[in-house]
Amino acid sequence: MNVVILLGGPGSGKGTIAGRLVAADPTLRHVSSGDLLRDAVKRQTAAGVEADGYMKRGELVPDAIIARMIADLMAGIAGPCTLLLDGFPRTVAQAGILDGTIAGCGASLAAVVLLEVADEILVDRIAGRRACPGCGAGYHVTNIPPRVAGRCDACGSALTVRKDDNPETVKHRLAVYQAQTVPLIEFYEARGALRRVPGIGPIDEIAERVRRALS
Ligand code: AP5
Repeated sequence: MNVVILLGGPGSGKGTIAGRLVAADPTLRHVSSGDLLRDAVKRQTAAGVEADGYMKRGELVPDAIIARMIADLMAGIAGPCTLLLDGFPRTVAQAGILDGTIAGCGASLAAVVLLEVADEILVDRIAGRRACPGCGAGYHVTNIPPRVAGRCDACGSALTVRKDDNPETVKHRLAVYQAQTVPLIEFYEARGALRRVPGIGPIDEIAERVRRALS
């Protein structure tokens, strides 16, 4: 198993680009730490109950919770694939834990892709984000609007706004990103693993930039 880490601020397009890459290449597997946690919250597992408050406040959940979820998931993957890790690791401590997990399951870290997007664009993207609770499709009210306002193109469900996408929480998530995740850029740059990709422009173009960065 190869592991590619998608790094970038909240709203930088990690999930959107991962979805585009996976749609074109079935050997890729997208794993979003945020989606894993939201699913745990929805199912009210012990981890989900503990994570809920941190997520509502826009803080990082304790390393042990998310690291265990990722390790369990990786241990359950049989056969060759490339894992697109979106949202994990998010701290230098989590990167150390991931190194152990990768070594433990005989995988290797292929690259770390940093999607570079200015803060003001991140805020606008998050303010307009809508998600489909039915099939998981993602939209943006002006950048990627559904054909019928408020309805998913694929399954017709009413689109929703994520609980942590309110302006106050977003401000805090950006501050948390700067303080806790930005140090990872230097960490992976020092290893020669970092690939910087401009995260602005049409989604297909960004996806192509990421493919080139990985080739
Ligand atoms: P998580 O779900 O990972 O949130 P995030 O990192 O803040 O990232 P987002 O999901 O907000 O954005 P994205 O980069 O995927 O952008 P998207 O593609 O949606 O984490 C949520 C919470 O979970 C955290 O706050 C924390 O509490 C917890 N958590 C998660 N992982 C953790 C960890 N490892 N450790 C501890 N806690 C953890 O795009 C955004 C919008 O922009 C969309 O509307 C999209 O349509 C639009 N868009 C995308 N690309 C473009 C483009 N090129 N042009 C125009 N619009 C675009």
